Amino acid sequence: MRLSLLACLPLAATGALAADCSRELLRNLTARYVTAQSQGSLTPLSPVVARWGFNYTENQEAVDFRGASVLLRPMRLDHHRSFHDAVACRTFTELIVTDPAAPYVIGTRMAVNGTAGTIRKMESIVTKPGDWAFNATGYLYWNAREDWSPVPPEKRDTRAVLKAAGDAYFDVWTNRSTVVPLDSACGRLEGGSYTNAGNFSGETCDLGGYPYGIRVPYREYVIDEELGAVDIFDGFPGLDRGAPDYPAPDSHLFRVNQGKIRFIHTVSHCKTWNCGLNSTTFK
Ligand SMILES: *[C@@H]1O[C@H](CO)[C@@H](O)[C@H](O)[C@H]1NC(C)=O
Ligand SMILES: *[C@@H]1O[C@H](CO)[C@@H](O)[C@H](O)[C@H]1NC(C)=O
Ligand SMILES: *[C@@H]1O[C@H](CO)[C@@H](O)[C@H](O)[C@H]1NC(C)=O
Ligand SMILES: *[C@@H]1O[C@H](CO)[C@@H](O)[C@H](O)[C@H]1NC(C)=O
Ligand SMILES: *[C@@H]1O[C@H](CO)[C@@H](O)[C@H](O)[C@H]1NC(C)=O
Ligand SMILES: *[C@@H]1O[C@H](CO)[C@@H](O)[C@H](O)[C@H]1NC(C)=O
Ligand SMILES: *[C@@H]1O[C@H](CO)[C@@H](O)[C@H](O)[C@H]1NC(C)=O
Repeated sequence: MRLSLLACLPLAATGALAADCSRELLRNLTARYVTAQSQGSLTPLSPVVARWGFNYTENQEAVDFRGASVLLRPMRLDHHRSFHDAVACRTFTELIVTDPAAPYVIGTRMAVNGTAGTIRKMESIVTKPGDWAFNATGYLYWNAREDWSPVPPEKRDTRAVLKAAGDAYFDVWTNRSTVVPLDSACGRLEGGSYTNAGNFSGETCDLGGYPYGIRVPYREYVIDEELGAVDIFDGFPGLDRGAPDYPAPDSHLFRVNQGKIRFIHTVSHCKTWNCGLNSTTFK
């Protein structure tokens, strides 16, 4: 009796582990995050931040979460959208603030400990005037014209298909033979500048070619099958013309439809003003 009882324990624990990282938990955490940022208060997050080993970065640099994070600044959020990856136990949230006094576009990734129900790592790309193609009004405007509604269950792409679509987009930079699966109306929103501004039904994601030869030093994924999306955090050397070796903290969010990339949203931080360009357009 004793033996079989003991033998059952690890199994039960394993089952609980897998079940714990649910979309419900992840939704609760992103909702808390959005509330915290809008209030400029850590209170909604405090109960769910891991007590030990919690890591917080802004633009890939460690920032004092409790003393100096952007979360301490209340913001009127004009838009927020969160993505939940119950398999990898991660989330991604897009925030837009058009307040002319202090506009922001923020992309935040959270890594969650599903057992404890706590956030163990938060990484934000915090963009404002001076960052790549920055225009919060434009980000809001074009974003609102796109369809990011949940994909009906029978039309959902698998995780592998979603990931492959995002990966192909980066792979082609170093391997020109890569076939990037672009939808015939693929459009890309960068900082607030929209490739498809002139023609919403045209394909403009490969406009002007890709940044061939650029090798990103890392890729980190959040995959949400319900929203047909994959977000990739990466470092983007060469983006900042004023600091070409700087792997600019970057997020590429892909909306994928039947394996084809429909929309791309980028959020990229510059070390030098406007990444060394003299305008907020991306050419
Ligand atoms: C998150 O879950 C806790 C515990 O169930 C609940 O008290 C809280 O209201 C939830 N918060 C949000 C923002 O959903
Ligand atoms: C988390 O932060 C601690 C110190 O604050 C550091 O030692 C550790 O390397 C960080 N871990 C990761 C995964 O960045
Ligand atoms: C997750 O939380 C559990 C329970 O608090 C802890 O034992 C474990 O080390 C944590 N895992 C990570 C990866 O932080
Ligand atoms: C920002 O985007 C909006 C909407 O597309 C546009 O009307 C405005 O001119 C843009 N601002 C700048 C500075 O490019
Ligand atoms: C480049 O991409 C092509 C097409 O996907 C593939 O067959 C080839 O193996 C790739 N080459 C390298 C070096 O990865
Ligand atoms: C918009 O793009 C579609 C597809 O490329 C093309 O057929 C159409 O002529 C374009 N319309 C305009 C006004 O450029
Ligand atoms: C930006 O403007 C500065 C000062 O006018 C100029 O020196 C620089 O070459 C310009 N950079 C680009 C990329 O046009």
